[in-house]
Amino acid sequence: MFNLVKGTHDVILTEADKYSYIEQTLIQVAEFFNYKEFRTPIIEQSELFQRSVGDSSDIVRKEMYTFFDKGERSITLRPELTAGVIRSIVNNKLLALGDIPVKAYYVGPCFRYERPQQGRYRQFNQFGVECVGVVSPYRDVEVISLCYFALKVLGFENLKLVINCIGDEESRTNYKNVLRDYFGKHLDSMCADCKERYNLNVLRILDCKVPTDQEIVKNAPKIEDYLTDKSKENFEKVKKSLDELGIEYEIDTNLVRGLDYYSDVVFEFHYTSSKGLDYGALCGGGHYNKLVQEIGGPHEVEGCGFAIGIERIASVMSDDNLFNEIDESIDCYVMPLDVTYQGKAIEIATALRLNGFKTDVNLEGKGLKGMLKKALKLSSKYALILGEDEIKTNTIVVKDLTNETQESVNLAEIISYLDRKEDECSCGCDHHHHHHNDEE
Ligand code: HAM
Repeated sequence: MFNLVKGTHDVILTEADKYSYIEQTLIQVAEFFNYKEFRTPIIEQSELFQRSVGDSSDIVRKEMYTFFDKGERSITLRPELTAGVIRSIVNNKLLALGDIPVKAYYVGPCFRYERPQQGRYRQFNQFGVECVGVVSPYRDVEVISLCYFALKVLGFENLKLVINCIGDEESRTNYKNVLRDYFGKHLDSMCADCKERYNLNVLRILDCKVPTDQEIVKNAPKIEDYLTDKSKENFEKVKKSLDELGIEYEIDTNLVRGLDYYSDVVFEFHYTSSKGLDYGALCGGGHYNKLVQEIGGPHEVEGCGFAIGIERIASVMSDDNLFNEIDESIDCYVMPLDVTYQGKAIEIATALRLNGFKTDVNLEGKGLKGMLKKALKLSSKYALILGEDEIKTNTIVVKDLTNETQESVNLAEIISYLDRKEDECSCGCDHHHHHHNDEE
């Protein structure tokens, strides 16, 4: 027996259906906003993430799966997709003046060597978007509204948009100096992480979760007092536009996010269920004005994006009953009563499938009773029984498992027979009707 690697999980059967549903829904919304799909490699040069996500981030310092390949190149399993997507946009020269903005969406696995806990995995899946190339506060608003709309379509109500402006580089340099002065006076009594953050990226002290540190953070200088006029104006436009779109938000001046590439607007959507359970952040994102340049693109190009954790969404939706029943029933179950009829059974099953009936066939050679039991277990609408008489007369017995009636049907007429039965079925049931009846 082999165990799962710590921090990984299988996504199988109905759970996999849920993931597909979530991903397809998110993709549809992104396409509705005219985003195009990007599939970038899972492995990238380690330096890409050091440059973008940042040397001072927890991700780069402690959480990356980094190894040397046989050519002694330092390779990293992507901890997120933004860096790879921007690299791809730059490499493929998609930022020509006439082609911007580049609107990319993506889905796929990411890897972070984190301490596994509720909802945190070492391999997890993200869906996200990046809008690159245009400088406008309304692009940020558009990205936020895409995220909001996508979560709404999935069934989330009472979402809380938490937003902050961390300013441009000039704003942040001023603010960091003030913060270093302030926290320098309190550092002795603060946690070990904060002492480290003080040297690496003092902004990160603002989201320390230790209660006594939070008291100190409460009285710290606020970013809003150190924003340049340009950043301030930009943020005002974003807020006003969100008001106009009816997207409620809360400003959290301590929201700094854990990746180093952000500037100006950063945001997260938090969710509290109808039962009052606080699930925290479902997703996060923000604006970046130096990232494209950092990765080798033109210096004036900015962007904005966000990513959603599929695991997070799936577990909250399951918990909060936001999934619709997934229909796993089939139309036909073909039951050869002797192993020598299995060839004929496969032939019939194939014909049914080609004519739009979702069909399975018993090749396990159980008796009639066992096969009927299996038909019910599969929630099949019809059981098609192939016995000695049927083989002789080129017929098949069609048993309607909904009303327990059965008829012998000539094999040449099986499709038209089932089509007719489907048309007659006007009971308003939510049976799976095959494609001929799609107008219903
Ligand atoms: P992030 O906040 O690091 O941002 O990750 C986005 C989402 O991925 C989180 O809100 C969470 O749902 C999910 N996530 C992160 N780590 C884990 C984990 N260990 N297990 C399960 N789910 C996890 C980014 O990755 C940025 N690239 C977002 C972005 C795109 N910013 C601009 N563009």
